Amino acid sequence: MNCVLITGATSGIGMQLAKDYADNGWQVVACGRNSLALQLLQHYSSLITPLEFDLTDLNETTRAIGKLDLEPELWILNAGNCEYIDNGVIEAALFRRVFDINVIGLVNAIEACQSRFRAGHRIAIVGSIASELALPRAEAYGASKAAVSYLARTLQLALKKQSIDVSTVYPGFVETPLTDKNTFPMPMMVSVEYASKAIREGLAKGLSHIYFPRRFTLLMRLLGALPYRWQNVLTSKLISE
Ligand SMILES: NC(=O)c1ccc[n+]([C@@H]2O[C@H](COP(=O)([O-])OP(=O)(O)OC[C@H]3O[C@@H](n4cnc5c(N)ncnc54)[C@H](OP(=O)(O)O)[C@@H]3O)[C@@H](O)[C@H]2O)c1
Repeated sequence: MNCVLITGATSGIGMQLAKDYADNGWQVVACGRNSLALQLLQHYSSLITPLEFDLTDLNETTRAIGKLDLEPELWILNAGNCEYIDNGVIEAALFRRVFDINVIGLVNAIEACQSRFRAGHRIAIVGSIASELALPRAEAYGASKAAVSYLARTLQLALKKQSIDVSTVYPGFVETPLTDKNTFPMPMMVSVEYASKAIREGLAKGLSHIYFPRRFTLLMRLLGALPYRWQNVLTSKLISE
C-alpha cells in the first residue's frame, strides 16, 4: 500500500491532502501539533496515523519520526505560517516566528526524515508563489518562502544522484485559516479541494515544480521576470494594500 507523510496536516491544504490521499486508499501519516485535529483525522479514516510534534523543535521532531513504523515513499513538507509586516516596520521577533516554522521547521523535518529517504521516493516541499516576486507586506513571509524555494531546488540537484525526486509546490492564494486572517483582496483564490487536486496530480505526474492556479501563478512569474522597478509599479496595482 502507498504511504505518504504530510506535515501541517491538521489544517488547510495539508488536512485536505490527508483526507484525499486516505480516500484514495493511501496510508497517511498526518503530522501537526493540534491534537484535537489529529484525533478528528484519525476518526475520518483508519488509514490515517496521527503524529503529534512541534516542527520547530528538532529533538521533538526526530523523536516523533523515529517512532514511526510505517514507511512513506512520499513526503509532503507543507507546514508553514504567514505573518505580514505593516508599513515596512521590521520586527525581529515576527521574522523569527515566520522563519522558525517555514524554514527551520522544514530543515528539521528533512533532517529527521532523511535517513528514511530511499531511491524512488519523492519529497514535495510547499513554498509559495510569493517567493517569485516582492509583494506588499510580505517582507518576512516572502523572504522565508524564497529560502524554501532555494533549499528545495538545491536539494533537488543533490538527491537526484540517489534517485530521490524533489518537487517544489508554488500555490497562489488558497482559502484556509492562514488566508482567512487577510483583509486585502486575494485575486483568483482557490479552495483547498482545488489545491489538493493540483498537488496530487502534479506529484502523480512527477512534476518537479507545481504551480497553481495556473493563470494567477503564470502572471506572478511573468511579473517576476520583469525589471524590479516595473515589478514594483505593477504588483502594487495588482494587489493593493
Ligand atoms: N493558503 C495559502 O494561500 C497559501 C499560499 C501559498 C503557500 N501556502 C503554504 O501552504 C502551506 C499550508 O498552508 P495553509 O494555508 O494550509 O495553512 P494553515 O491552514 O494555517 O495550516 C498550517 C499547518 O502548519 C502546521 N504548523 C504550523 N506551525 C507548526 C509547528 N510549529 N509544528 C508543526 N506544524 C506546524 C499547522 O499545524 P498545527 O497548528 O497543528 O501545528 C497546520 O497544520 C504553508 O507552507 C503555506 O505557507 C499557503
